[in-house]
Amino acid sequence: MKILNFGSLNYDYVYAVDHILLPGETSAAYRMDTFCGGKGLNQSIALARAGAQVWHAGLVGEEDGGALLDLCAQNGVKTKYIGKVPGKSGHTVIQVDKKGQNNILLFGGANQCLTEDSMDQVLSAFGSGDMLLLQNEVNGVPKLIEKGYEKGMRIVLNPSPYNEIIGQCDLSKVSILLVNEIEGWQLSGLQNPEEILNYFSEKYPQTAVVLTLGSDGVQYRHGQERYSHGIYPVKVVDTTAAGDTFTGFFLAGITGGKTVEEALELASKASSIAVSRKGAAPSIPKLDEVQQFNFS
Ligand code: RIB
Repeated sequence: MKILNFGSLNYDYVYAVDHILLPGETSAAYRMDTFCGGKGLNQSIALARAGAQVWHAGLVGEEDGGALLDLCAQNGVKTKYIGKVPGKSGHTVIQVDKKGQNNILLFGGANQCLTEDSMDQVLSAFGSGDMLLLQNEVNGVPKLIEKGYEKGMRIVLNPSPYNEIIGQCDLSKVSILLVNEIEGWQLSGLQNPEEILNYFSEKYPQTAVVLTLGSDGVQYRHGQERYSHGIYPVKVVDTTAAGDTFTGFFLAGITGGKTVEEALELASKASSIAVSRKGAAPSIPKLDEVQQFNFS
């Protein structure tokens, strides 16, 4: 079984601020860093650092994509299906406040230039039983779901960031749906975690749902199978990429032979470490760090 992640690669311009700016407000940042990120890249790096083999597919800009490709390659992510298009890569402007909370302004850039031909070309190298991981920072996600499903691939969707494109996705074709509580609410119209999980299991009984709940941990539901796991207390520095770290480690766990409960534990530990560090990709731990970390 191969894992293909068709997803974004971004530069994150991260501004440390006293508080997240209000509409109309001007305020000085006290620090600025540039990190490699993008939900796609972060999830590929997390998969690779957790020990899985992952092929990343996506696009970077000819002008500036080098460091994104290099970081993937340095981490063992297979870059054969990352193309280059004229212009700039995707980027974000991120404010991180003193409590480690953030907001993210996203510019798609090269991530939004996928063509149907390029999707078909990449997908031709994958087949039945392989996993197709998707987020919502590249164009054509509904098409990718259709195409991957037709090939018999196991579709894993993290519908983030949520927008009208997700409404066009056929979620009945999704094997694993990973959502946070906001995305769960946006998809179901419900706020209570139990009701969100009930909604998905009634509407999409074939789909395993992983609902992350911030400081309340995570809940998993697939038919009669139900699991939950708490978080590990750490000093929160920056929550960017915590969800991506969780996704990568959870998928590496279940594809590597762990039970769902074991994979939830591994992913919860990895994402707890990620929130204790600055940045997106740089905050993602390696498997041995997660195994050796003292969570007491
Ligand atoms: O999930 C975190 C990521 O979201 C950041 O790295 C940023 O690029 C945005 O895509």
